Amino acid sequence: MDKSLRRPVIAGNWKMNKTPAETKAIIEEMKPLVANADCDVVICAPYIDLYAAMEAAEGSNIKIGAENCHWAVSGAFTGEISAEMLKAAGVPYVIIGHSERRQYFGETDETVRDRTRAALNAGLKVILCVGEVLEERNIGITAEVVRKQTKVALSGVSKDELANIIIAYEPVWAIGTGLTASPEQANEVCAIIRALIAELYGKDAADRFVIQYGGSMNDANADALLAQYDVDGGLIGGASLVAEKFAKIVEAASK
Ligand code: PGA
Repeated sequence: MDKSLRRPVIAGNWKMNKTPAETKAIIEEMKPLVANADCDVVICAPYIDLYAAMEAAEGSNIKIGAENCHWAVSGAFTGEISAEMLKAAGVPYVIIGHSERRQYFGETDETVRDRTRAALNAGLKVILCVGEVLEERNIGITAEVVRKQTKVALSGVSKDELANIIIAYEPVWAIGTGLTASPEQANEVCAIIRALIAELYGKDAADRFVIQYGGSMNDANADALLAQYDVDGGLIGGASLVAEKFAKIVEAASK
């Protein structure tokens, strides 16, 4: 087994932060700092910032993503954005199933599955988020929770389509709390996800499958987390809002 079969992906998740003007400024600041990255670099921004982000990132190695998409191609869904619209706008990546969507906006394993389906149909690359809440970890059902979330989301996804999916393991108790999973805890669950991918799609697919860790990853702890065998990158919230911090994580993934 060889970790180098997988190119790490460092993705920023800006959540509900930054105006279009701020977007342009921070991407301009990031560009030279991440230009020599030996990993994929993605910034996922609010819908309203996507054009500014793509314009600023043009010609650089920074790719742009959205933070969600709807499961329908079009229709009477006020306030929503479809995967087809993102594709038509030139956005290559989309985050699906983030725990804040699950927690605050009624996202379920089934809607995550349907949004994933729509994104793949539109030709987008998906960053699929899974992770347990603290109570689930405390009663010892982390593996079951993460396996179920992953299995439902991937139901109907073919082996070929798997190439367009990354999973971000994000323990909910570590998101935005400053509490990071230890490198060993992160690796343990990423390994559980990889074993499930092997069960569903074969070992070869699993060996090549990118699994990120997310949850208070920052410039100080990225080295130790990214050194773990089953951790192939990070989904970064808070630290992706500061160009220098984000660039340091990109640097850690490039080693
Ligand atoms: P955080 O967020 O890095 O601020 O904890 C991670 C995420 O929610 O993707």
